[in-house]
Amino acid sequence: MPVISVSDAVQNLAAGELVAIPTETVYGLAGRMDREDTLRAIFSTKSRPFFDPLIVHVADVDQARALSSDWPEIYDLLVREFWPGPLTLIAPKTSQVSALITAGLDSVGLRSPQHPVAREILRGVGIPLAAPSANRFGRTSPTRAEHVIQEFGDRVNVVDGGDCEIGVESTVLLARPLHEKWNIEILRPGGVSQKQIAQLLLREKIPFTIGRAHSVASPGHTAAHYQPESPVVIVDGDISDEEVKRKLKQIDHEVTQVHRLALPENAILAARVLYAKFRELSAKQAVIVVAKTEIHAGEDWQAVWDRIERAAILHL
Ligand code: TXA
Ligand code: MG
Repeated sequence: MPVISVSDAVQNLAAGELVAIPTETVYGLAGRMDREDTLRAIFSTKSRPFFDPLIVHVADVDQARALSSDWPEIYDLLVREFWPGPLTLIAPKTSQVSALITAGLDSVGLRSPQHPVAREILRGVGIPLAAPSANRFGRTSPTRAEHVIQEFGDRVNVVDGGDCEIGVESTVLLARPLHEKWNIEILRPGGVSQKQIAQLLLREKIPFTIGRAHSVASPGHTAAHYQPESPVVIVDGDISDEEVKRKLKQIDHEVTQVHRLALPENAILAARVLYAKFRELSAKQAVIVVAKTEIHAGEDWQAVWDRIERAAILHL
């Protein structure tokens, strides 16, 4: 079994090996950030293209600041409120951060995770860890140790930290000063919502603008992503299984089974179970159908729908 203890994980990571570790969002495939061979192994293990930058995980804000040549002041406020937690901050990098990590960009993504096991490992290794989600490129991220084993078998050791509480990846955020205000771009919606960020800044009377940024600013965050083994189809409201099959047949997609993914009514719960459900419902010749209804709408649902839409091959 590739399940190992925290102390073995610390030792292996210090030696430059990769270990899958639990975080509160999803499991990450971690390796020390200061070794090129280790960084290369992350990309090759995942079959990940080099244009997709890695997030660097830090134990605390001091480690984060040390990796940034120009740490935006507003990040101190965000860190006080949301770290440790599911928020990745994009900041100008120092020369200590390899171009392999950043895909050649001059900025780096930094996050201090909250999961106690991740924290213990980061403190134990003492060096920040580069860690993308521990799945093959483009696939559903793992939210259980068992999922990591489904992805990599015994090629990767994993520390079992139980089910991830958040269940979708961190929010990726970039803040830059613009016309006397902070211009905040959400590059990837995730565990911290836009509303939570806006509320904090309003409370602190910080002038800001905030919105979703698209594609260019977030390399690697491609339209097709997070895909489970079975195709995902989004439908509006009520449509019968037979109707789904018929419509798919029209576009030369023959399926024998339709599996419905029933979303919980609460967005937090939906995020927590989404990826595990994708995996459970995957079967040969089957399609996973997610119905978009009014109860699953609104700002709180941004991260969940972002992932479902990227996972989906079709909107019927
Ligand atoms: O919750 C998470 O963020 C998980 C856990 C393991 O921490 N990690 C994760 O990593 O989702 P990954 O590699 O699957 O996604 C990282 C994404 C990149 O695809 C890219 O969109 C964005 O973060 N990113 C990283 N560095 C960036 C940079 N310098 N500029 C813009 N976007 C960046
Ligand atoms: Mg990923």
